[in-house]
Amino acid sequence: MPEITIAPARGLGGAVQPPGDKSISHRCAMLAAIADGRSQLSHYSSGADCHSTLACLRALGVEIEAQSDGTVAIAGAGLHGLRAPAATLDAGNSGTTLRLLSGILAAQPFASAIGGDASLNRRPMRRILEPLGRMGARIAAAAGDTPPLRFTPAAEGLQGIAYAPPMASAQVKSAILLAGLYARGETRVQEALPTRDHTEVLLHAMGAPLEALGQGEIRLHGPVEKLRPLENYRVPGDPSAAAFFLCAAAGFADADLTVEEVSLNPKRAALLDVLARLGARAQVLTLEERAGELAGSLRLTGAKALGGTTIAGAEAVALIDEAPILAVLATRTRDGIEFRDMAELRVKESDRIAAIAHNLRALGASCEERADGMFVPGGQKLHGARLRSGHDHRIAMAFAIAALWAEGESVIEDPECAAISYPAFYEDLARLAQR
Ligand code: S3P
Repeated sequence: MPEITIAPARGLGGAVQPPGDKSISHRCAMLAAIADGRSQLSHYSSGADCHSTLACLRALGVEIEAQSDGTVAIAGAGLHGLRAPAATLDAGNSGTTLRLLSGILAAQPFASAIGGDASLNRRPMRRILEPLGRMGARIAAAAGDTPPLRFTPAAEGLQGIAYAPPMASAQVKSAILLAGLYARGETRVQEALPTRDHTEVLLHAMGAPLEALGQGEIRLHGPVEKLRPLENYRVPGDPSAAAFFLCAAAGFADADLTVEEVSLNPKRAALLDVLARLGARAQVLTLEERAGELAGSLRLTGAKALGGTTIAGAEAVALIDEAPILAVLATRTRDGIEFRDMAELRVKESDRIAAIAHNLRALGASCEERADGMFVPGGQKLHGARLRSGHDHRIAMAFAIAALWAEGESVIEDPECAAISYPAFYEDLARLAQR
């Protein structure tokens, strides 16, 4: 599909079940692979990124049966049961696969290598090379500290460290904790701002000796002997996928949208606070707990008018994946949205600040681009345009929603990258959009 044409809509309504959460799917597959015993996962993310994780784990000798309905059975190899891969592991477009698996590969008694597609092979890896190196890992990167990464066994094994990552990153924290499972002594990570905590929640549920010390400090006692499998674990829906439709509903005055079975982990729910601040309040219909993770259903009805807001600091960290769709929604507000403290957007699957600014301008809207954020004014009329995904899933999906609000049809170039996190996105969009 080289391009897709999207017509404007007059409203949005119905029910949607987002795919299984991408962050949780990666983690439960990796942890199940090194647990003792069989894990049975359901509602595993259908996205290509999470299937890259399964392919890497298979190449490490793990037996995995994945069905098309999202059921994945993983025969845990134990912490010391992985085997040397025959070739360079392919993480595809997935930064989470590459960075988290690096924590495990660094601790193995065999050599290995991992790389990805052109986008991933441009992304910065110093952020994991530095702490893993301090733990004793031997890792060589390509020029500029980019993938592929080559791992040589650490002769002395790994030792625990106390580390405060210089940027807020759940991927960095998780890579250190995964290496910490194998390291001698205490591994401590001190976060300045909280990031998503799925690694900690799952490790705790699987019996790892992990403690949250408060004030953003996490401690793990290594080496860990074994992890319990996830015997029957259903992955909650992905809130960052649901965000596209929640924001779409917020932008139509008489929308009525139900989102089924989505993660309501407090570290992933900041979008609901921002929408409420703008004037669109979501109602929690059901709530349950699964192995320490919260999941539930939401209903959001459109707002007569949306105000404006600033996203900065801890919220900037929590909403880093939602920035593209919030920037699009900003055009529907009265006062606009200011995004601060979001330099990380420049090193995602694409430079998302540049991609957002380019596509907003193509739609006839303005966007004040800054080094670490942007300001998108409110009250902007959009006109149909040719839009570029830049092979970045979240840019493709955000601008497919923008097209609903434009006057005239829009064309999204290279839209198929949506399948990285949400393969059924365009079908769900066609079903929910009212024309
Ligand atoms: C993720 C963490 C975030 C996020 C990414 C998934 C994770 O990245 O943007 O989509 O699953 O840990 P950073 O850790 O680089 O902030």
